[in-house]
Amino acid sequence: MSAVVRSAALPPPIPGLNRRIRQPKKNIPQTKQDRDQILGWVRAYAEEQKLVPPVPLADLQEHTDKILTIHAIDKIHRDYVGVLLANETWRESLATVPFEKRLLLMPKCLRVESKCPAPFDEFGLLCKQCGLCSIQDFQNEAEKLGYAVLVAEGSAIVMSLIQTGKIEAIVGISCLPVLERTFPYVEAAAIPAVAVPLLQDDCIDTLVDIDWVWDYIHLTSDDKTRRLNLNALHDEVKTWFTVESLNALMGPSRGHSDDIAREWLARAGKRWRPFLTVAAYQALREDPEGPISDTVKKAAIAVEIFHKASLVHDDIEDGDAERYGETTLHTEHGVPVALNIGDLLIGEGYRLLADNDAAAHVRSAAILVAAEGQRELCIGQGAELLWTRHPVALSSTQVLEIFRSKTAPAFEVALKVGAALAGRLDECADALHTYSENLGIAYQIRDDLDDLGEDSAAGNEWNMRPSIVLSLLREKGKGEVKDQMEALWNGAAKTKPDNATIREWAMDSGAHEKAMTLLESYKEAAIRSLQEVELPNLKGLLRRVIGKIFNELEIKGWCREFEQKNLNPELRAEAAKAAEHLVPKVAS
Ligand code: IPE
Ligand code: MG
Repeated sequence: MSAVVRSAALPPPIPGLNRRIRQPKKNIPQTKQDRDQILGWVRAYAEEQKLVPPVPLADLQEHTDKILTIHAIDKIHRDYVGVLLANETWRESLATVPFEKRLLLMPKCLRVESKCPAPFDEFGLLCKQCGLCSIQDFQNEAEKLGYAVLVAEGSAIVMSLIQTGKIEAIVGISCLPVLERTFPYVEAAAIPAVAVPLLQDDCIDTLVDIDWVWDYIHLTSDDKTRRLNLNALHDEVKTWFTVESLNALMGPSRGHSDDIAREWLARAGKRWRPFLTVAAYQALREDPEGPISDTVKKAAIAVEIFHKASLVHDDIEDGDAERYGETTLHTEHGVPVALNIGDLLIGEGYRLLADNDAAAHVRSAAILVAAEGQRELCIGQGAELLWTRHPVALSSTQVLEIFRSKTAPAFEVALKVGAALAGRLDECADALHTYSENLGIAYQIRDDLDDLGEDSAAGNEWNMRPSIVLSLLREKGKGEVKDQMEALWNGAAKTKPDNATIREWAMDSGAHEKAMTLLESYKEAAIRSLQEVELPNLKGLLRRVIGKIFNELEIKGWCREFEQKNLNPELRAEAAKAAEHLVPKVAS
């Protein structure tokens, strides 16, 4: 039985997985989720107001205060929001400066001070690429693009670089106090400068939101998709899944089974996978904003069809009575009918990929991608199902391996079909594979977290299956919790703890925090995998896709108790009061 999840198949270590966790300083929004949300607000505001840089400090503060008011952001974050807003005013200017004319400026406090082997020279730190901190990743990627890179504090050297005319834009990482001091210089120089705030300002072992730095480093006007409205694209994809639209694209229904299948397709779903197909296609075609042909629509529908077929079968396999808050297909029509609908759908998916206006080699490439994905997915699903027949405790690493194999393939198929349609699959197949693996694992971790949430359809009636939260709980739980988890995993438990209990245990044991860290790590690994991608459109778009998928998912986060604590007005007022004494005002 232990052969189901082979240790040989364990995933390679994820860079950053064991990275240090440090609480951000009080005047920085405490969770990544909060910070991403605030950045989203700031970005939308800056776009809407069409602010022209350099915006003088007094104006910047006025706008900042408006943003704080509109979104009820705690005043303690005023400086932080101000920096984000200043960055956004420079966004488009930065995009038009060639990489070779940009400077990446990093502070040496990002290193792990006690272990960093790097020496200093008169210009700053000479990174030894030991991999302990994020400096080397940023430096390698920025230098590959053509940036000058400096790990130093001094503003003197930066100002002299600007004066030589070699540098026309700066991407910096810095703590809020330093940004406050340097703002006047940057404003006076009027050179595009964005700065990602450090999460701490105590000059040692500091951290930064890695993906933000990554985004600014890559910002380029060569990315023709950077203005592509992903929300509008997603909305358009959703309109293809009405029964009428499906009938138009798939051809008329041939009767009752077709009707059930198409009604099921139309029923609900987030449509991430067909969205990914179209997004990849748009990024790789000549004209990213051109209209979408029926051939592409059919392929995107095929991708969703494979996914929906797998859900019909998955619900039978898991004995789930509900999905999307409605009865599952087999509960409604019986298992034999549902099995047959799943089979019909799989055939329909292949028919749509084969029967369209694409060139023959494009069609065969797309069909091969789908077939390989389906095989991988069934092998992953099989590992899970075989496990349920002979449950043994799985480590979190083994659970992640199941995720890699059962959830990631659908994302990979989605992206690769889009790339195949654009005729560019060969150029990006490897990168899409790695990206999808990490995206898929992150997505399934998120789904596991949601399953234990208060809104979960699974409620308290869940069947034991390999879950990342439960594996971490078994690894991290103590005493009674550990005993119960062992029993649950080994199929020896008489009763199952309810969702509220699991949530409480997960919060107390650190399992929840670890799951969140894993989620972030896999998201970051997906972003990092884009290093291999030479195509600016695809790179930029896939980066933004991660933001879109996870920001929308995170809104429903399961940890309501936790969030409520964060939002508790009394606690916030207390924090704000304490901060009055701690935080120097930007302007005063
Ligand atoms: C369900 O996928 C199965 C998982 C991999 C978590 P989704 O949650 O994306 O399902 P739809 O597309 O919204 O139906
Ligand atoms: Mg399942």
